Amino acid sequence: MLFDPINIGPIQLRNRSIRAAAFEGMSPNHNVSTELVNYHQSVAKGGIGMTTVAYAAVEKSGLSFPHQLLLREEIVPQLKALTDAVHAENAAASIQIGHCGNMAKHNLIGGRPHSASTHINMYAPSFSRGMNERAMIETAKSFGKAVHLARESGFDAVEVHAGHGYLISQFLSPGTNRRRDEFGGSLQNRMRFMQMCMEEVLETAAGKTAVLVKMNMRDGFKGGMEIGESIEVAKELERLGANALVLSSGFVSRAPMYVMRGAMPVRTLASHMDNKLMGVFAYLFGKFLAPAVPFKENYFLEDAKKFRSELKMPLVYVGGILSKENIDEVMNEGFDAVAIARALIRDPDFIQKLFDEKLKHSKCDTCNHCIAVMYNGPFKCIQLENKK
Ligand SMILES: Cc1cc2nc3c(=O)[nH]c(=O)nc-3n(C[C@H](O)[C@H](O)[C@H](O)COP(=O)(O)O)c2cc1C
Repeated sequence: MLFDPINIGPIQLRNRSIRAAAFEGMSPNHNVSTELVNYHQSVAKGGIGMTTVAYAAVEKSGLSFPHQLLLREEIVPQLKALTDAVHAENAAASIQIGHCGNMAKHNLIGGRPHSASTHINMYAPSFSRGMNERAMIETAKSFGKAVHLARESGFDAVEVHAGHGYLISQFLSPGTNRRRDEFGGSLQNRMRFMQMCMEEVLETAAGKTAVLVKMNMRDGFKGGMEIGESIEVAKELERLGANALVLSSGFVSRAPMYVMRGAMPVRTLASHMDNKLMGVFAYLFGKFLAPAVPFKENYFLEDAKKFRSELKMPLVYVGGILSKENIDEVMNEGFDAVAIARALIRDPDFIQKLFDEKLKHSKCDTCNHCIAVMYNGPFKCIQLENKK
């Protein structure tokens, strides 16, 4: 089944594997580097159905890293070179579009980060301002514009980042949305900003660009969004016309390791912070800010199954896939495709190796070094580095 084609909205993938959006850290000054093009080409060559360029900001206020993509007209030719390289290997190309809200860095955006509500975010750290309706309309429009730029650049799909505690997720979560107007309180109100963004995205996609949405099943902290509400969010996305959902969980500012599981290698993280003071802070408090969450293969499957039984639309499973056996288990539960991050960081041709039966299980040991180093440069697999 993994190697059967699949339709996602207007596009067809040659197989059911997707390279999950995993921040590459290969966009110095928010541009497309040759390294970024080569990386995605290598994943495409390695047999993937579709590769996803991670974490592209839809506007300047949504940036959290100096080496993060910022979608804008002037980088369209370089992005086109990336999608051409991917297409030449017969894979499809997607780009994750998002806004980090309260995770934005003051020095990058030249102002105060904005979010659903005014509050302090200890993780960035930042003091963010609750958005007014005008700002919400502008940001929703930026999501639409991002789809336009993605299409001009030759992307087959976009993935709207509505999870992991970034801006849309900050509106959805009762843990970060304390508003008393029609954008806060009930779930119906908390979904309003997401609806505004999705309307812009879907209108611009116009049935030509596939629209996936990465969303949370659980925020992973007390007071955050839980599965009952998330199923309602998923149903709303299905009603709005999203082509597929990628089901994840976790909240970068409150429960970061809930997303990826395992432990954060705190020393590596501290030595890779761009700011020395933040490095000391990470060294002293990293264990508390990013507490370990036990890893097991297919760790989100039990939660994801609850969504499968409630929805008809294509669902993409993500979380702890390290083997063909893991993929088969997910497919047998009715999921349409799988998204994979760490096994592909370890091995860009993981899918081809499964196809050729050269590999049964990834050699990734989920040490999470790749996550700790991305704070000031490209992600790297320490196992591969040590082999050089
Ligand atoms: C180095 C790294 C960077 C990541 N960056 C992003 C990101 O930019 N956007 C996102 O939605 N998820 C991001 N993730 C989460 C992955 O997309 C995925 O949901 C998670 O790692 C679980 O999949 P896996 O077990 O196959 O690694 C990242 C993961 C890793 C390892």
